[in-house]
Parts: sequence; structure tokens; C-alpha cells
Amino acid sequence: MLGWIIYKNHELELKPELYEINRLIAEAEKHAIELHVLKPEQIDLIVTKEDRKSILVDDKPTSLPDFVLPRMGAGTTYFALAVIRHLERLGVPSFNNSDSIDTVKDKLYTHQILAQSNLPVPKTMLVKFPVDINLIEKHIGFPAVIKTLSGSQGKGVFLVKDKQSCKDLFQLLEITNSKISIIIQEFIETSYGKDLRVFTVGGRVVACMERKSNSDDFKANYSLGGSVSSYPVTPEIEWLAVEVTRLLGLDIAGVDLLFDHDHFKICEVNSSPGFQGVESCCNVNIPKEIYTYLKLRLREQ
Ligand SMILES: Nc1ncnc2c1ncn2[C@@H]1O[C@H](COP(=O)(O)OP(=O)(O)O)[C@@H](O)[C@H]1O
Ligand SMILES: [Mg+2]
Repeated sequence: MLGWIIYKNHELELKPELYEINRLIAEAEKHAIELHVLKPEQIDLIVTKEDRKSILVDDKPTSLPDFVLPRMGAGTTYFALAVIRHLERLGVPSFNNSDSIDTVKDKLYTHQILAQSNLPVPKTMLVKFPVDINLIEKHIGFPAVIKTLSGSQGKGVFLVKDKQSCKDLFQLLEITNSKISIIIQEFIETSYGKDLRVFTVGGRVVACMERKSNSDDFKANYSLGGSVSSYPVTPEIEWLAVEVTRLLGLDIAGVDLLFDHDHFKICEVNSSPGFQGVESCCNVNIPKEIYTYLKLRLREQ
């Protein structure tokens, strides 16, 4: 079997996702899968009704793989998405598929879909300029969490403590970049500095861990130096994670849950979740879970 990982750098220049890509490659060998890492820019899109068996890679006609594994998550560009869609149209299955990747890149759209199905999400507003701070105070309250629409590793996420600091921040944003898309969200205080990351593959929970920040940061991201430990999967956690991935159409997902007193709220969903943290504390082999599922889907032994 031949598979392609779609990633922002190619084989020779792998950096931030090194752990994940190396693990995927190492485990692929054990499953008799030949895996190549391609960056979208290596592929040329020629849309035609002829030649539906090959594609141009580095200017050379290349036969199509049996599957693709996009690993660009929130950083998926229009170009990358176009490549994945093209491959899908040529009959190459993508795990995850292009629609689900596009959906979860947008944190507001994700919440809109989940809220429509009555799932618990923090109250969220799309910010428009000029900002009506009183409206925000009335509907969201303070402290509040401000996020870029698309982002990962805790990078575009801020906590604003009160009305004045929120006003100041929005003024700054308005004069520097009023076209920026941001959301403002209810702060789930009982989750301060901690959250859960639930890893699902093929509609099943394969691992669940608690992340805790190691400083007074309210963000619990592992990539920001948070510590991780395995966490028991309760029926509530399982149902939430499975339902979220089903509604969003994800084959592979990292579902972030916030502790809301004795229950949970869905924080965000990742389409190419890292798994260094989860493999370090839960007894799980993520690439193996992925390939076993993928072979089932592709009806291979
Ligand atoms: N509404 C919220 N209330 C409390 N904590 C939050 C909230 N939203 C995010 N956080 C914290 O910030 C972290 C990063 O937010 P998240 O939306 O997952 O951004 P990223 O995509 O950068 O990981 C979360 O893992 C969580 O610890
Ligand atoms: Mg997150």
C-alpha cells in the first residue's frame, strides 16, 4: 500500500511535527505501507477529464497513492485543501477528508455545528469592529477568552480580565488590523490551567489525557510546556468525543474538553492532533490505531 502524508515541509525539512511524522513512517513499515511526505506545492493541479490515474509531482507524472494523510491541521492553506480535494475527486481517500479539515479550522463554525446539535460549547461571539463592549459584557461577561478564528498550540488565545482591558485590546486590534477574524468566548473558570484531550480514531476513543499548565497560564496546551497524565474515559467523555467526531465527519481527531464543574464543555477540535503527549502517558500506539482503521476502511488485510 502506498500513502502520502501532506505536510507543509517535505521529507528533508521536517521540524515541528517531527515526532508525529517519524512515528507514522516507522509504524508504516511494520504495516507494509510505503509512506512519502509531500508538501502541497510539489503537486501541480491540472483539472481535466482525461488522465485520472496520475498526478504531477515535481513536474513528473506519478501514480496515485492508495490514501492520503493530511497533517497540516489549522495551518491548512487554500492550496493544500485544493490538492486534497483534487486527490479525493480522483478517488484517493483522505483521512481526514477535506470538508472536515476545512470545518474544524474555523473554531466558530465548529461551535455552530455542535451547538445546533445541542452539544455543550462555551458561549461564543464573533467580534465585529467597531466593537460594542456593552453587548459583549451582557452576553459573554468578564473575564473572557479571545481567540483567532483559526489557530493552534495556544498561540492566538488570550484571557481578558475585565471590561477595560478588553476595550483596550480591541482598540489596539482595530487600529492595527480591523479585518482580523476573532471570537470572544465565555471563560470556563473551573478549567483554569487544565483540560482534557481525547484522541479518537474511526469513531472510537483510543486515548484520553488531562493536560495541566506548569505555570499560572490558563492555557493547558502540551506544546506550551503543560504536563500530561492519563485520564479515565467516563461514559460522558466517550459520548461527547464520539458525537463530536461524528457530527464533524472526522476519522482522526483530538477533541479538547474543558472542565465545567462536574461536566464538560467542548473547547475545540483538531484534525491533525499531535500525539507525543498522549503516547507518553497513555498506553497507546497512535499510528497503529490509524493504520488498523485505515486498512479496515480500504478493505485491506
Ligand atoms: N473558554 C475557555 N475557558 C477556559 N479555558 C480555555 C477556554 N478556551 C481555551 N482555553 C484554554 O486555552 C487552551 C488553548 O485554547 P484552544 O482553543 O484549544 O486553542 P489552540 O487551538 O491554540 O489549542 C485550551 O487548551 C484551554 O486550556
Ligand atoms: Mg487546543
